[in-house]
Amino acid sequence: MAPTATDRHGPPAAGRWRPLAGETLTPSGVPSATVAAVSGLTAATAGPEEPLVLARGLVKRFGDFEAVRGIDVEVRRGEAFGFLGPNGAGKTSTMRMIAAVSTVTGGTLRVLGMDPATDGPAIRGRLGVCPQDDTLDSELTVRENLLVYGRFFGLSRAECARRADELLGFVQLTDKVNARVEELSGGLKRRLTIARSLVNEPELLMLDEPTTGLDPQARHLVWDRLFRLKQRGTTLLLTTHYMDEAEQLCDRLVVIDDGVIVAEGSPATLIREHSTREVCELRFEVDDHEQVAAKVSDLAERVEVLPDRVLLYADNGEAVAQAVHERGLSPRGTLVRRSSLEDVFLRLTGRSLVE
Ligand SMILES: Nc1ncnc2c1ncn2[C@@H]1O[C@H](COP(=O)(O)OP(=O)(O)OP(=O)(O)O)[C@@H](O)[C@H]1O
Ligand SMILES: [Mg+2]
Repeated sequence: MAPTATDRHGPPAAGRWRPLAGETLTPSGVPSATVAAVSGLTAATAGPEEPLVLARGLVKRFGDFEAVRGIDVEVRRGEAFGFLGPNGAGKTSTMRMIAAVSTVTGGTLRVLGMDPATDGPAIRGRLGVCPQDDTLDSELTVRENLLVYGRFFGLSRAECARRADELLGFVQLTDKVNARVEELSGGLKRRLTIARSLVNEPELLMLDEPTTGLDPQARHLVWDRLFRLKQRGTTLLLTTHYMDEAEQLCDRLVVIDDGVIVAEGSPATLIREHSTREVCELRFEVDDHEQVAAKVSDLAERVEVLPDRVLLYADNGEAVAQAVHERGLSPRGTLVRRSSLEDVFLRLTGRSLVE
């Protein structure tokens, strides 16, 4: 399928996060205005010091239900910023408002120095978006997906071809250029979606769960590529369920739960503020964990009982492990480790995010 000039009006929304039923992208714009705005020719921009995303009291309601309940977010140029939270926390709802494909219900939002309500096309033209759900064109080949997408941004055929080849190399899909998308595995599709999101050389790359469903090797490849993009100056905004991903990639993050932000900071700061330096994990017979917790609670600053283990929070985990043994308790397994974001999450929400 050859892209035509008319391809330019629909997207960048088409093939990305699509508007929900009942929502419209504003302004709809006449083709020439859209193309100019998408090219960034007439668009305003965030100054060097201005955050690329600035949300104050941001709200998203679906009917009576409030999915995002007044959050403040500030994403600075050049950083990697994360939304970490469980299913239904409101991450995608927030990302969609920032990507200017879902209307803001309340509060204020500026993206790249512009208002999504009035500058949607200009914003969308300068964002890269990797949505949570696969929106690739499964009838087309890998390379054609990038070529068609590039045309949406008003790029010449030659430029589309050049970027497609470079990006397919970047995500290591060069040997699949002529494969049809429907033949690709989930992980390969994810890599192609990431390549596609980079076609317009975005200032701000938004990734909604970039590595969900990937095998460990593919996850590391994606992390490596995102890290390189960041080094080149691309600002990253991502959502994840994975603590290790947040710790590896994010300079700063917010922990979001039930539509509100429950903590904010760098991974190291969050751990320092909301957990102890170390954790001693004890595994006994499953039914014994509550009883054990009662016997050792004085040894730690905090005790958590999970279905399969007891967590004792203390700055010196080895000392706690030894004290447990001195009380005549013999766990099946003992592990002393540094506190992680998982511990922060458990502390703040009372729930474990481990899947
Ligand atoms: N179009 C919609 N209409 C009604 N409710 C919605 C809609 N989209 C999302 N919701 C609800 O809003 C809440 C937040 O959903 P959202 O998709 O933002 O969560 P999330 O943090 O991205 O979760 P996940 O980790 O599962 O992707 C959920 O309760 C969800 O059911
Ligand atoms: Mg989501």
